[in-house]
Amino acid sequence: MQKREIKDGIFKLGSIDWDRRLFDSLIPLPDGTSYNSYLICGSEKTVLIDSVDPVMSDELMDQLSDVKKIDYIISNHAEQDHSGSIPVVLKRYPDAKVVATPKAKGILIDLLHIDENAFVTVEDGETIPIGNKTLKFIHTPWVHWPETMVTYLVEDNILFSCDFFGSHIATSDIFVTDQGRVHEAAKRYFAEIMMPFRNVIEKNLEKLKGYEIRMIAPSHGQVYDKPQWIMDAYKEWVTGGPKNLVSLPFISMHGSTRVMVERLLSGLTAHGVSVDLFNLAVTDIGKLAMSLVDAATIVVGAPTVLAGPHPVAAYAAFLANAIRPRTKFLSIIGSYEWGGKTVETLAGMIPNLKVEVIEPVLCKGLPKEADLLAIDKLAQAIADKHRGIGLI
Ligand code: FEO
Repeated sequence: MQKREIKDGIFKLGSIDWDRRLFDSLIPLPDGTSYNSYLICGSEKTVLIDSVDPVMSDELMDQLSDVKKIDYIISNHAEQDHSGSIPVVLKRYPDAKVVATPKAKGILIDLLHIDENAFVTVEDGETIPIGNKTLKFIHTPWVHWPETMVTYLVEDNILFSCDFFGSHIATSDIFVTDQGRVHEAAKRYFAEIMMPFRNVIEKNLEKLKGYEIRMIAPSHGQVYDKPQWIMDAYKEWVTGGPKNLVSLPFISMHGSTRVMVERLLSGLTAHGVSVDLFNLAVTDIGKLAMSLVDAATIVVGAPTVLAGPHPVAAYAAFLANAIRPRTKFLSIIGSYEWGGKTVETLAGMIPNLKVEVIEPVLCKGLPKEADLLAIDKLAQAIADKHRGIGLI
């Protein structure tokens, strides 16, 4: 893919990673991803914003083949999918300066062994003129690393946001063409990457309110030429309350826990509560993370195995704890045969969740009528809790 102009003198470069299906050896990428880099040709200086994952540096260097000089390489974020090709760029343009926050400088030296003399550090709000255009650097820490910043191109009202507002989508289209698709991908991205930092992201969104933003150019996914909706979506994900939704991840070994899950599903829907059901044996964990953005209640369905929760259910609890959703209530259901500490173990795995635990329902073997009635009571209790906070 060649570089393409998005506005006068501003080009989108980078690589589309059509094949990648896992990020950080952890996060599913059903739609691949892209590593976007941008070239800004000012009347006096030439600037590269972010680079690409190092496995794709050849493509970036090809796109730069007719660029004689780069004055500044802006590193909005030190994670290697954006910074990893900076050493290669510096090799061809040894006089270029790497512009980063002071914290990013240290991380880039640690991760990429870039010479410290190559850096220019910028404070929050600092500007660098490049002739007819001006770069303004806005520190936006913890989106999603401590060193992150965004770069605002003053005269063009473009925000180069790196991971902020990004989405993992591989597509040849430069600008958002299918808002529904991008909304889902951006929400998945938010859930998996950004949600643990919700509070600080809220402050960063507030900070951006002072800028007229006509375009957002992230370093993953498509460019937003009508950016208001994605900023509104972030605002909702960060500050909106949970919804009348139960997220119900479960695993079943021989069907007993599944019987309980299906009874709970029926009970909840009869009470007007929406349910997202995830069989952890087959589910895309990113879909579960997206559900946790909205769910007022999590119910984990876990059989007891080796005296504790099934390890797959324990992983789901670990994930929920790590991404810190705004969930209000939690319960556990499942089947056992000779005892164990399923409830205690799962409850101990979620210290980050500020939830009220609703009485779990565990049953011995295949659920009997009394067990199913206990599930019905749990459905009623969840509906009452949702009603109590105005969700129904
Ligand atoms: Fe896209 Fe945090 O790197």
